[in-house]
Amino acid sequence: MLRLEQCYLPDDPATNGALRLRLFNVGDQPVAIDRLSYTSLLRPNADVVVQGGTFLGRFANKVDIGAPDGFELAPGQHWEITLSSLNIVPRTRTLGALSAWVMSKGEVIDCTVGDLPPANGISTGPIKDWPNPDPELPICLLPWPKHFDCATYGPARLLRPVDDQARAALMQIAALHKRLFPAGADIVTLDDRADSIALRTQAKTLPDDGYEIDIGTEVTVSFGNAHGWRHGLIAVAQIAHAASSDPRFRFPTSGHIQDSPRHDWRGVHLDVARNFMGADQIKRLLDIMAWHRMNRFHWHLTDDEAWRLPIKGLPELTDVGGTRGLGQPLTPQYAEGSKGQRGSYSFQEVRDIVAHGLSLGIETLPEVDLPGHNTALLAALPHLADSDEQSESYHSIQGYPNNAINPGMPETWVVLEQIFDTLADLFPFTHVHLGGDEVDEASWSTSPKARAWAHEKHVQASAATIQSAFMRDCQQMLQNRGRQLAGWDECADGGGVDPQSILFAWRSREKIAALMQDGYTVVATPGQHYYLDMAQGEGWNNPGLVWAGISPLQACYDYDAGAGLPDDTGKLAGVQACMWSELIDCTARFNYMAFPRLSAVAEAGWTPVSQKSWPRFAALSHLMPQL
Ligand code: ACM
Repeated sequence: MLRLEQCYLPDDPATNGALRLRLFNVGDQPVAIDRLSYTSLLRPNADVVVQGGTFLGRFANKVDIGAPDGFELAPGQHWEITLSSLNIVPRTRTLGALSAWVMSKGEVIDCTVGDLPPANGISTGPIKDWPNPDPELPICLLPWPKHFDCATYGPARLLRPVDDQARAALMQIAALHKRLFPAGADIVTLDDRADSIALRTQAKTLPDDGYEIDIGTEVTVSFGNAHGWRHGLIAVAQIAHAASSDPRFRFPTSGHIQDSPRHDWRGVHLDVARNFMGADQIKRLLDIMAWHRMNRFHWHLTDDEAWRLPIKGLPELTDVGGTRGLGQPLTPQYAEGSKGQRGSYSFQEVRDIVAHGLSLGIETLPEVDLPGHNTALLAALPHLADSDEQSESYHSIQGYPNNAINPGMPETWVVLEQIFDTLADLFPFTHVHLGGDEVDEASWSTSPKARAWAHEKHVQASAATIQSAFMRDCQQMLQNRGRQLAGWDECADGGGVDPQSILFAWRSREKIAALMQDGYTVVATPGQHYYLDMAQGEGWNNPGLVWAGISPLQACYDYDAGAGLPDDTGKLAGVQACMWSELIDCTARFNYMAFPRLSAVAEAGWTPVSQKSWPRFAALSHLMPQL
């Protein structure tokens, strides 16, 4: 039995300090050790100095350290290794080694791994600060509506449809409520019980996606279109659910609510490449989004670490590209350890997820990340690499060597045709997200074929200009299939793309205004506030990454992407929460990181700033469903 303990030594700021590893033999037999491998987002740099072992190499987050010849670890003994020169100074516990294993005479032995304890002088608090004050009013609505006028409250009520139209509508919302809160009390009845209130629905001229609720002896939900109808019924369902499940909440006896969304785009992004999430959980996430009146699911399906989307005619993309493991082209990278991780969706699962979203008013925006972030694709289709390109001629920010697909290879375009055909077939949404982020500036610099392609296209051979020419060609291919391009904010660099694109401003708050000025439609996803994988407090014990900053709940809630921007251009489409999944290896971690920040982004997307209230949100967000 082997256990890896670790600690951070902040010694030398010039090299970001050092990571000390101690591998203990906690069993009762000696163990021969050839090599230790571990995975960690705290990565040694290329100039790393290793004491106590030999640096054998690193593939992104996986590091291999050789043991001295004939090394044997006796019971109770440990092997100490120190690596100095690291990519970052760790600021949270989860940045240390996540998994480890050794090779012992050709056998793999997995190790348990201790947490990275705080280095001297590093604060361990505060961690996530999610107060639970008593609600200001005894009613639960999240997002909060534009106009709210209810003053009298009574006991919980079951909703009783008065006619066939209301009944059909309400049964769908009751089913959503049951899926989200299977153990909760019913909120709908078909019987004329004393604790029920009649509910009717009626069409009316209202703003897009808007609804009104009138409460008296009956509840009337008025709607302008199908989305408004659903939002209105979900609002009544939220009120009924809180009143029936928490004694602090009541059902209004009279009042009026008039509501419509602030923004068209109220999105959630989910990265399923770093850690996979199955179809059933994704459907539950869509249910949770609908309960928050969110309407765009941005599904990040491919990255360096895995390719999860089935493509007609290219089964190797998901077979090879959907598998990480020892002896596989893609090695373990995160908490999965030596056993690796396998996962991809079937065509039917993708269709089911898209259909499930549509049944809840949620459009699915698929993302295939191009041209960078493509280690998995290149592992599955190695003939797409230029064999004359120098190996490891550049590394992406995440440490992947030569990970951009090559526009100078004719085979690239054949594969892209197949990928775009499948995307257009599976996803009815108007836009397809093609990434465009984090292409290393030395990409293609040693590829003769890429340079020849740039020459043919009459663009400079810099990474930004090649990327932009590449994206424009991809955009045309999407347009040929009746789709428009969506991409990360880098798509505006190096010459930009067609302004009909939707671009996602992630690198800074300032990008939102800059992209709008360039004429793009913009979705605000600034990493500083809306990346749900960022730590939620300064404390060391917080799980999460910190590269975009610490994102405490109240700062996330208070952030207004539209502040200081002109309201009338229609260029700010909306807001989106993004969940990158390097550290999201279980449901509990997802929930800890996502909630209530996902709810905060939902309210930012819907509620006018003048109607927002942090204490009310803090109270009500505890009632929202989790994964
Ligand atoms: C991104 O966070 N690389 C879009």
